[in-house]
Amino acid sequence: MIGNYTNAFEQTALGIALLWEKVNQSVASSMATYLITGANRGIGYEYCRQIQERGDKAIAVCPEASKELKALGVRVEEGIDITSDDSVANLHKKLGETQIEVLINNAAIAKSITLEHLDFDSIREQFEVNALGALRVTQVLLPRLKAGGKVVMMTSRMGSIADNTSGSSYGYRMSKVALSMAGKSLSHDLKPRGIAVAILHPGLVQTRMTNFTANGITPEVSVRGLLTRIDGLTLENTGTFWHSNGEVLPW
Ligand SMILES: NC(=O)c1ccc[n+]([C@@H]2O[C@H](COP(=O)([O-])OP(=O)(O)OC[C@H]3O[C@@H](n4cnc5c(N)ncnc54)[C@H](OP(=O)(O)O)[C@@H]3O)[C@@H](O)[C@H]2O)c1
Repeated sequence: MIGNYTNAFEQTALGIALLWEKVNQSVASSMATYLITGANRGIGYEYCRQIQERGDKAIAVCPEASKELKALGVRVEEGIDITSDDSVANLHKKLGETQIEVLINNAAIAKSITLEHLDFDSIREQFEVNALGALRVTQVLLPRLKAGGKVVMMTSRMGSIADNTSGSSYGYRMSKVALSMAGKSLSHDLKPRGIAVAILHPGLVQTRMTNFTANGITPEVSVRGLLTRIDGLTLENTGTFWHSNGEVLPW
């Protein structure tokens, strides 16, 4: 009788152990790898922090790693300039066999360009980084994304034509319209491959880009919203232009 109980106990313990192993395996296999450009500060850094905090993997890509980023303990690929073919090819090489589930094109620059002081070199530079840089990174890293993968374009409400009620900011606005359009085309082109694309506005956020404006939300609040949008991104809603707070924005 006691032998039967011991047997039953051992079988139950074995069952629990097997179940636990299965759950652990499925948690481990559902760990996703996110690659984030412009990751040394601002929203890019906060993406890395929250992605790591929730148990996913972040690959932080940047021109030069900050102290904070180095201290985070995520994989860092520095020395990358997204405007350079060679630099992005070098990133691809350094990534080796790494697969990516989510590519976040976050790196950008913002220069104030008014009608009175049109600086075409600066407008061109903003196109190079904000629009062409993101498209270049996407093209080069695309073979690393499988069906179920996601691409994120960090655009801006400043790149919404319908929402432009105040003018100016020629280079930044024009480059973000171009980026959003690239994102929309990618959403159509990548749908048959099972890859979804989000075009996201983070809100007005307290980063160096906005001189840490007191009117803005913190990177922490912004990225919580952005990750909720990315988690909810599917092939059904691919190509949508969202605010981090979930509002669908006009083109
Ligand atoms: N903050 C806002 O309120 C706001 C609003 C709307 C949209 N956004 C968008 O959100 C994204 C993140 O913005 P943020 O506020 O976090 O900006 P940020 O603090 O200015 O950070 C921009 C990042 O992009 C990197 N970067 C610039 N040029 C690059 C290049 N050629 N190659 C590689 N990396 C480059 C910067 O690297 P360095 O540190 O080396 O310069 C930096 O890491 C951007 O796409 C921005 O347009 C921000």
